[in-house]
Amino acid sequence: MLLPLLYLFAFAGLADASFTILVNDNTQVDTSDCPITYYGQEYTTVYTNFTGEDLFVCFNGYYNPEGNGDCIRVPNTDNITYFILNNKNDPSYWTDLTNFVHSSVSTVTNNVTCYLHFPYKSSMALLGMGSQSVVYWYNPPPTFISVLVNGHLVENVYAIQNTEVLSDTSGCRISGLGVKPGTTRLNLETCSSMTCSNSRIASMETCSLPGQCDGNGTCSVKGLCTVTGPTVIDFSGQINSVSDRCEYSLLHDQSTGFSLKANFLERRRRDVSFVDSLTLDFSERDDIQLLQGHRVTVAGSPVTLTGSVQTFSGVDLSKDQTGVTASFSVNGLSVSVFFDGTTARIYTETSAGGSLDGLCVDSSNVSSSMLSSDSSCQDQYEDPADDTIDCAAVTQQCDILKSAPFSSCNLYVDPEPYIIACRSTLCKYPSVDNLRCQFLKAYAKACEKKQVDLQNWWTTAQCHHPQPICGDKCSDHEFCGDIHGNTDCRCRAIFASQYTEQNRLGGPTVCQDNTASLTLVGCLLKEKSIDYTHLHLNDQTCTGVIDPDSHMLKFSFSSDSCGTEVTTNNSQVIFTNAVVTRNSSSDVITRQDEVFIEFSCSHPKPELQNVAFKIIDNSVEVFLQSGEWKYSVTMKAYSDAAHTQLLDPKSDVRLNQKIWIVLETNGLDEDVVSVVTDSCWATSEDSPNSVPRYDLIRDGCANAQDGTVSVMGNGEGTSNSFSFNMFEFSGKGTSEVYLHCQLQLCVKKNNNCVPGCSVAARRRRSLRHRLGFPALISMAWTQ
Ligand SMILES: *[C@@H]1O[C@H](CO)[C@@H](O)[C@H](O)[C@H]1NC(C)=O
Ligand SMILES: *[C@@H]1O[C@H](CO)[C@@H](O)[C@H](O)[C@H]1NC(C)=O
Ligand SMILES: *[C@@H]1O[C@H](CO)[C@@H](O)[C@H](O)[C@H]1NC(C)=O
Ligand SMILES: *[C@@H]1O[C@H](CO)[C@@H](O)[C@H](O)[C@H]1NC(C)=O
Ligand SMILES: *[C@@H]1O[C@H](CO)[C@@H](O)[C@H](O)[C@H]1NC(C)=O
Ligand SMILES: *[C@@H]1O[C@H](CO)[C@@H](O)[C@H](O)[C@H]1NC(C)=O
Ligand SMILES: *[C@@H]1O[C@H](CO)[C@@H](O)[C@H](O)[C@H]1NC(C)=O
Repeated sequence: MLLPLLYLFAFAGLADASFTILVNDNTQVDTSDCPITYYGQEYTTVYTNFTGEDLFVCFNGYYNPEGNGDCIRVPNTDNITYFILNNKNDPSYWTDLTNFVHSSVSTVTNNVTCYLHFPYKSSMALLGMGSQSVVYWYNPPPTFISVLVNGHLVENVYAIQNTEVLSDTSGCRISGLGVKPGTTRLNLETCSSMTCSNSRIASMETCSLPGQCDGNGTCSVKGLCTVTGPTVIDFSGQINSVSDRCEYSLLHDQSTGFSLKANFLERRRRDVSFVDSLTLDFSERDDIQLLQGHRVTVAGSPVTLTGSVQTFSGVDLSKDQTGVTASFSVNGLSVSVFFDGTTARIYTETSAGGSLDGLCVDSSNVSSSMLSSDSSCQDQYEDPADDTIDCAAVTQQCDILKSAPFSSCNLYVDPEPYIIACRSTLCKYPSVDNLRCQFLKAYAKACEKKQVDLQNWWTTAQCHHPQPICGDKCSDHEFCGDIHGNTDCRCRAIFASQYTEQNRLGGPTVCQDNTASLTLVGCLLKEKSIDYTHLHLNDQTCTGVIDPDSHMLKFSFSSDSCGTEVTTNNSQVIFTNAVVTRNSSSDVITRQDEVFIEFSCSHPKPELQNVAFKIIDNSVEVFLQSGEWKYSVTMKAYSDAAHTQLLDPKSDVRLNQKIWIVLETNGLDEDVVSVVTDSCWATSEDSPNSVPRYDLIRDGCANAQDGTVSVMGNGEGTSNSFSFNMFEFSGKGTSEVYLHCQLQLCVKKNNNCVPGCSVAARRRRSLRHRLGFPALISMAWTQ
């Protein structure tokens, strides 16, 4: 049976009340006989205030409009009310009321055990149900009561004329605010959403990082993330440093796949990294890279930027003398990225969903923001401390951010992360390359975003110098920095260490075939104040060739050029040259140190291996390799002294006709080695060892017994020749003549390879440097 509650109160209420008082003044009543659980708080006292228009029924003290009262505001009809407390100890008494409450308010489950009732022209009651409670409101004219928790309105409960209404007053209290069971309440100021379950379990969600509440209900990614040198100051002002040379995600949108990536690299010290380049990786558009030297590439190709905005694949790019700015919008998030080579500023102005991560979102999340797959970028180095750094002085320099003019911004932008960034880097890394001002500027720019203009801060901070820009594009192993007061490409520390640790300027020497080369590192030369244009080899016309991209200076020489000195020992031929400084004694002044870098290549001495031919042909050629030496030997026969009429198998050669044999090598360095024809002899059979045998050349000289033999150019170069008159073996019945020559290579030194063929010379011959084994080459004629 559903009874109108009014009647229950009218009859049961007054009749069974535990006590009834008339209240016509501000009054405090002990209600411990009917405790009321009001938004999680159990109360046993009631305070009433008549405030002209309203009657306030409060639980935690008299009503104070400024205070944090737990109160119910009821229209004040008469400046007077009854107060009834009924806690009849008879369960059956409460059955009807309980049923009525359960049918009206779905979120209450307990039985009513008592009530506090304020009946007059209107009627307000609080029904106690242990850990639950409801407010009852009946009012003849259409008006409402207000339920306040901590002074904040939870709800207005309206009753239309002559009807009664019930509302749960036992919900959750979250962050000091009342939340009704089964509802979610939003706090626009904190962007929190507070939920109270039907079983009165409270939960709250606030802006997830990097969301910042805009004070109007929206969690937005808004603000500035600064990456300067190794430090990241994220959107929420948290600071962290990158200590390796890997690529990191600064901002990543999970829904679109967009990533803003930063690559870190070392500069002067191996143990301090700097943000070196940024990549805007749009999964479905071209990548854009912001590089050192204010350079930009779109899809890998460099683009030329000016002060006016140019749009490349949806990104607005512009450049001024301070750096490059890229503005774009991704998934409703508009982002502007500035990069000057040392500092990156990422500024987001509009809000977006909370699907973002990366170091700008949470700078502490270094490990999950790392992108590099090659873990070698994580190798840690430890360089000796720089004893020129005075950390106390550095601290003072960085603390300037707490004094004027910076102090005027301290209220809006916490200077502490910027001071820590400045101090932690400059206590370790020299304050060069305008680095100190970079940290101050990072703060000034953050203030600018908060509309705080730090007038002429650079004057106070003595930061007039612009960020160094190198005229040349620095290569990957270089960065733009100060070298002895000039701005130029300097070597990165890890790259340089492979040379400096061995006190070298380059190298190693590369030996190949008959050439040698030595590459010197351009940036190391600059650091040593060596002007590469003043360097040459022994022969001053042999200068180095500089690679415009890598700035590596390459000197090459072959064994016969650039004043190369050739020496030999038992097993090796050694070519030596040196990089030296130009003779500047004719210059008025010089600005560089003398350079003398000797370098050499040694090759095993070339050898001629034994080869035998049984080829009847117009020429014989054999290809040989000995260590680094690759060459061929040919043997050709001619019918004229000018070596123009080649004898081929079809040529008729008459007996006693003079023929010229040319022995020629190809691929040997004429300035280094000579070919010596040691001996030549003829046999009637193909084996060079067969008998009979007739000698034409012996020990490099013509057989003196045969007046027709003459030897030309023997030992002078890489070819020589000899002539003789054709003969045949007598009484042999065969018409074949096999000619065999044994050749020898000789390393040249003062004409030492030419056999002395005078009688006197022959006694002291064989002083020449013979190389390896002699080679045998044979040719056959048939008639
Ligand atoms: C409520 O009543 C108390 C006690 O009389 C009084 O001190 C207080 O000022 C009153 N509050 C208002 C808003 O009238
Ligand atoms: C209540 O009393 C105040 C002052 O005594 C008076 O101004 C007001 O009109 C009264 N309200 C009602 C509803 O009688
Ligand atoms: C609530 O009231 C019903 C009906 O009177 C009764 O059966 C039940 O036991 C009561 N529950 C409690 C927890 O007292
Ligand atoms: C709050 O947001 C609403 C709607 O989004 C807007 O109309 C209002 O101007 C905002 N208020 C402030 C103070 O930003
Ligand atoms: C760290 O980043 C990863 C992915 O970038 C993200 O899934 C994770 O929630 C982050 N952790 C914290 C504590 O922010
Ligand atoms: C010959 O010179 C090479 C290169 O300088 C050297 O390595 C080798 O030991 C020398 N051999 C002898 C026998 O001196
Ligand atoms: C340098 O050149 C001058 C003349 O120009 C000469 O006298 C001097 O010997 C040279 N020095 C060297 C080391 O070659």
